[in-house]
Amino acid sequence: MKKIKIALIPGDGIGPEVVEQGVKVLHAIERMDQGLSFTFETFPWGCEYYLEKGIMMDANGIDLLQKFDAIYLGAVGYPGVPDHISLWDLLLKIRKSFDQYVNLRPVTLLHPSFTPLKKRSEKDIDMLVIRENSEGEYAGAGEWLFKGKPEEVVLQTGVFSRKGTERIIRFAYEEARKSQRTLTSISKANALNYSMVFWDEVFEEVGKEYPDVTTFSYLVDAASLYFVSDPGRFEVVVTSNLFGDILTDIGAAITGGLGLATGANINPEREFPSMFEPVHGSAPDIAGQGIANPLAAIWSVSQMMDFFDEKEWSEKILATISSIILETDNLTPDLGGKATTNEVGDRFIEILSRAT
Ligand code: NAD
Ligand code: IPM
Ligand code: MN
Repeated sequence: MKKIKIALIPGDGIGPEVVEQGVKVLHAIERMDQGLSFTFETFPWGCEYYLEKGIMMDANGIDLLQKFDAIYLGAVGYPGVPDHISLWDLLLKIRKSFDQYVNLRPVTLLHPSFTPLKKRSEKDIDMLVIRENSEGEYAGAGEWLFKGKPEEVVLQTGVFSRKGTERIIRFAYEEARKSQRTLTSISKANALNYSMVFWDEVFEEVGKEYPDVTTFSYLVDAASLYFVSDPGRFEVVVTSNLFGDILTDIGAAITGGLGLATGANINPEREFPSMFEPVHGSAPDIAGQGIANPLAAIWSVSQMMDFFDEKEWSEKILATISSIILETDNLTPDLGGKATTNEVGDRFIEILSRAT
């Protein structure tokens, strides 16, 4: 019996609403698969916790999480707590503390009706964005000088270490080789004359070890254009932390929205737990209404199963998403339906169970 210990951090806003559905899916898998069992522990961390206790997570929170195999997170951040506090003290703290330096964000169109792009089908939009997830523009380094004075200057420093840059680029080359897909690096060396010049050099250097991988390199502004005008150019994509953040929201926009976008924060060495979460945030505009789309969070469960070598389950979950999105009546309003979060979860499990 394979046992997987999962820490749940439902978080804020729609986070708990969508995580509940993902957990239902995990329970359903457990019922159908005699060889798998999950244990869950829920941590009530987030903005409400902060407003009550003055901290986003317990002081020993990272130690507490360390004993889990995986973390399943909803969303963090809510009006009332400054975003840079809520995110740096919880979500980004976990990504960094556990050296989850690979952020795997598939940008996959499951059905032509889910893209606003004309005449695009599944074969045109099927990429894997590999976002550097531990440093770069998100190093948290900077300085705020002469605050409030006329000479005020604010510095936000990007940190691109040899180790950090090489390992993400190598990971991407390995992925491209394994899946026999092209690899595109997205950077911005024309303007960012230190960080991105270095990035491009490393991309080229590491590439010498992968002569079998066809590569492309684009500037991020042009790449943003191509994401919309010609997404078929991209297969495996590797990019920096901030560029990856922005590009994957564009990716979400061309494949059905944030309600269908997932991301896995991976520590490939498995020295620390990896974290699975939807790309979206806490969506304060729709929180508490029971209409959040849970499919992104459920797709994260698919990524989790893949990470634990349960390929069959990861594929079944994806196939079930592909099938439920054809049933407009069983979708949430963001995808044109009238169903509630909970109804989508229930219907999902019905289809998944029938296919098994
Ligand atoms: P958001 O992703 O929360 O919402 C953007 C838009 O997408 C909103 O209109 C929202 O209603 C819609 N949306 C998002 N998820 C949806 C879903 N599952 N179903 C239907 N519609 C959905 O981004 P935001 O409004 O910029 O940020 C809100 C808060 O979330 C902020 O505090 C931000 O810092 C935080 N945030 C957290 C994460 C995370 O925890 N990973 C990610 C992004 C933003
Ligand atoms: C994401 C989010 C986070 C990020 C924020 C909330 C810090 O936008 O996961 O895409 O920028 O990484
Ligand atoms: Mn984002």
